[in-house]
Amino acid sequence: MMKEMEAVSNFCGMTAALLFIVANAYYPARLIAKKFKPWSQDTVLFFRQYLKAHITLNLLALLALILHGHYAEERNIFLTLSFIASVALTIEGMLMHYRVVPGMQRHLRLLHTQQALFTIWIVLIIAGHAVI
Ligand code: HEM
Ligand code: HEM
Repeated sequence: MMKEMEAVSNFCGMTAALLFIVANAYYPARLIAKKFKPWSQDTVLFFRQYLKAHITLNLLALLALILHGHYAEERNIFLTLSFIASVALTIEGMLMHYRVVPGMQRHLRLLHTQQALFTIWIVLIIAGHAVI
């Protein structure tokens, strides 16, 4: 039984990692594309589509992550914090995308696209798994 749970956890961990990588390559892609402004109509369209993928794939990744964490045999403070950061980023993204609190758009955008938060999130994931 333990073995099956570990297999489910590992599969979901790999799935979450893959989805997160494809979803959030959106960020470096935009940083690079920023250097080639003004954008062509094609580039504008590409990023409009990629934003949709960013949202859908991050939501799917969070589902996989919940299963991964639930069935994982161990955890530590870094992994717990990495999970909390993932949920926080998702909530910010949702609030921003669906304009739940119109007066907070600018703040949410600043928070969600914060390079420091993004870096901390990645460091927590790596550190958490490194000390297991
Ligand atoms: C935040 C994003 C996370 C990602 C992308 C992620 C990804 C992964 C991946 C790819 C693996 C390797 C699976 C394999 O060996 O086939 C793994 C292992 C593992 N993860 Fe995560 N994980 C995350 C968060 C978490 C959290 C929050 C926990 C704890 C609740 C956790 C606990 C574990 C454990 C215990 C292992 C097995 C460690 C080992 O075999 O060395 N992970 N994770
Ligand atoms: C762990 C999950 C997530 C991470 C790490 C993440 C990270 C990021 C980053 C770094 C950017 C900035 C890209 C840029 O420079 O324009 C961004 C943009 C964005 N994200 Fe996320 N995101 C996540 C999940 C979500 C979710 C779940 C949603 C919506 C439901 C979302 C909605 C958005 C939107 C709307 C933008 C575009 C902001 C704009 O350019 O106006 N994000 N995200």
